[in-house]
Amino acid sequence: MAQDNIDEIKSKVDVVDLIQEFIQLKPAGTNNFKANCPFHHEKTPSFMVSRDKQIWHCFGCGEGGDIFGFLMKMEGLEFPEALRILAKKAGVQLQYQDPAISNQKTKLQDICRAAARFYHKVLVDHPKAKVVRDYLKGRQMKDMTIETWQLGYAPEAWDTLNKYLVQKGYNEEDIFLAGLSLKKDRGVGYIDRFRNRLMFPIWDIHGNVIGFGGRWLGEDKEGVAKYINSPQTLIYDKSRVLYGIDKARQDIKKEKLAVVVEGYMDCISSHEAGVTNVVASSGTALTPEQVRLLKRYSINVAFAFDQDLAGDNAAKRGIEVAWQEEISTKIIRLPQGKDPDELIKKDPAQWPAAIAKAQSIMEFYFESTLAKADLDNVEDKKKVAKILLNIISKLADPIEQTHYIQKLAGLLQVEEEILRDKLGQILNKQKKPVSETKGDDKPAPKYQDRFAVLAERIIGIALTAPVNLTYIIDHLLPEEIMEDKLVRLYKNIIIHYTKKQVFDYKDFIKTMAVEDSDLAAYAEVLSLRSDHDFSEEEDEFIKQEVVGGVKDLKRHSIQVKLVAIQQKLSQSEKANDKEAIDSYTQEFSKLSAELNKIS
Ligand code: CTP
Ligand code: MN
Repeated sequence: MAQDNIDEIKSKVDVVDLIQEFIQLKPAGTNNFKANCPFHHEKTPSFMVSRDKQIWHCFGCGEGGDIFGFLMKMEGLEFPEALRILAKKAGVQLQYQDPAISNQKTKLQDICRAAARFYHKVLVDHPKAKVVRDYLKGRQMKDMTIETWQLGYAPEAWDTLNKYLVQKGYNEEDIFLAGLSLKKDRGVGYIDRFRNRLMFPIWDIHGNVIGFGGRWLGEDKEGVAKYINSPQTLIYDKSRVLYGIDKARQDIKKEKLAVVVEGYMDCISSHEAGVTNVVASSGTALTPEQVRLLKRYSINVAFAFDQDLAGDNAAKRGIEVAWQEEISTKIIRLPQGKDPDELIKKDPAQWPAAIAKAQSIMEFYFESTLAKADLDNVEDKKKVAKILLNIISKLADPIEQTHYIQKLAGLLQVEEEILRDKLGQILNKQKKPVSETKGDDKPAPKYQDRFAVLAERIIGIALTAPVNLTYIIDHLLPEEIMEDKLVRLYKNIIIHYTKKQVFDYKDFIKTMAVEDSDLAAYAEVLSLRSDHDFSEEEDEFIKQEVVGGVKDLKRHSIQVKLVAIQQKLSQSEKANDKEAIDSYTQEFSKLSAELNKIS
């Protein structure tokens, strides 16, 4: 049964540990944690995670759930994929025949995994791959590294992989959809996409193979790309992939720094040399999605470019993206014409040294712009001013801006004022419409009236601070709450309490989970919200909250009744129904008296 699997996984994967892999949690109370919600923009934390309850909930946007819900939402997954990932984490063997745990995406992942194994086996064992093994030896690659990164060889043939996968029971159309084959120009059938290439499997953060990069191993040829990658598929989206992220992410978090290199080989060599907080961007500018992925693990990113590339537009675009995502960005300078792989192969100690010397973006831009200019030449001076002022204009902090204007004024030997004027012109051109300024853009919470919220607060306190429970039960009747679901919950609380004369939260939830799991889940959320709102408050404060809140609820429920009676009264008056008028009038004054007693 799939349910057994789900329960076993839930018992093995802790919600706090899981969420902590994605965002930083801060302790809040004994066994709760809080954070800024990853699902909406906010500046004060309303996102709560409970170790005891094994749930999470955001009281800003209303999202919440368990480990499966979190992963699905965070990663945009469907249940079957989340199930597979968490099963792997928990070391739980899933029952594969269950159709609920296989969908199109997981099927394509299976195909890619099988392909990676095939390529790897060919590389390691096949006589025809000897040249490739020699090639890797020539590049000083260790066997262990080939193993860890599952490097492979796609043979120089038309359909070896396709045949192999078909014989393993996969469907040709699915193999095509996994990005591994091409449709033949003429006639029917498929040919392998990757031929005579050194294969780099590409993993997602959970260690699923989702695609490949393939380096051409033949001679340089017109029309043959040095590298080809998987096309966009259901599981491979180039703009979201960072090569090595599955192996680097924990170390990025530990080192509080993500190093971004360009090439697959650069990334592998770095890990081999013991610098493991490194991922590869695969040769293009970083996309906002990639930057956001990195940001989960650290807000510090250092880019490694060689000197030439520093001037390259793609690289600069990547830097700007990182900047916009409010990431602290540094640049690692490498000796002319060298990539990290070459540097490491020549002298492994130089690589960590280069990382340690990483420059701030501004230092980097100053240095690289000035390196190309002759400051005795007035045209060059104007060019330098233009480039650097443009960059300075992007700094948010006025103190930083002033600092670099002064620096630039000194270098160019012009008045600071002149540069300030020019900067003003640039800023004017860039001015954004007011609506774009960032704020706490909480999504509008689902509409709930004030009294519904208040009632939930009071019941939340009843659940988390049972000292207040007697007072609440003595003073607040279930019918004085207007929301059905909450009334049901409250009635169950009263029953539970009356039966045992004490209120044991855990026991209550256990009982409710059997009787009405929906209501149990609701109680868990209310109790967590109560922890969120009150865990740092004094008992006396909470008591005041209860006394005041109960009064407000009572008053509100009477007022609702009064409005209804008034309506009926005026109807009876129209109908001239004396008897009805009398009885409604009596009821009205009785309720009014009650209302007066409360305040
Ligand atoms: N790349 C690509 N498509 C290309 C060329 C490059 O996707 N046609 C990506 C690859 O991810 C590659 C990276 O850009 O790893 C850097 O390219 P390059 O510097 O040319 O290769 P190296 O990684 O240095 O490879 P090698 O050391 O084997 O030459
Ligand atoms: Mn290289």
